[in-house]
Amino acid sequence: MTHPLSASRALCLLGLSLTVLTARADADVKRPDVDTAALPAIAPGWADLNPLRGNADAARIGGTIFNQTCARCHGENANGMRSPAPDLRRIGMACQRVKDPALRQRCLSDADHFFVKSVRYGKQKFGIVHMPPWDGVLEPSLVWSLRSFVETAPRN
Ligand code: HEC
Repeated sequence: MTHPLSASRALCLLGLSLTVLTARADADVKRPDVDTAALPAIAPGWADLNPLRGNADAARIGGTIFNQTCARCHGENANGMRSPAPDLRRIGMACQRVKDPALRQRCLSDADHFFVKSVRYGKQKFGIVHMPPWDGVLEPSLVWSLRSFVETAPRN
């Protein structure tokens, strides 16, 4: 039988380590220092499809944002090397093989939604923060720039 004291001590230790993990994931959730002057104006709110898809300035600025805010978990330039988090370049890749243009747009829209939702609300499992939320920190034009960047980042 477990001694009640050691059980509560174990719980306390578990609580402590969860706090440490959470604190680490939540650290540095701040707006990156980036010049967005080259970004075209977009309609307010969250669009259904990336309004900055195919925009070279957005992809370039997205790369700067990425390396300041996401690379520590998702790898430098999203290269997926030795990173503990998923390779983001594959999100929506399968859409390119969809022949029907309307269906392809729907496929891309699903992928965009998933990307935006992941960034805005982060990733939590069993109360542990695997990825912190950026809602209210990164505005739509920054998140869409990130999306444009990961879509065009070279694959190794
Ligand atoms: C503290 C580490 C950390 C940071 C910083 C981080 N992420 Fe994540 N991210 C993760 C982890 C871990 C997962 C996988 C978690 C899961 O699926 O439960 C993930 C998942 C995702 C997913 C879903 C990927 C998939 O295939 O399931 C997207 C999209 C994403 N992150 C985008 C970003 C972007 C963009 C940034 C920068 C704004 C960012 N993340 C910053 C750790 C991080």
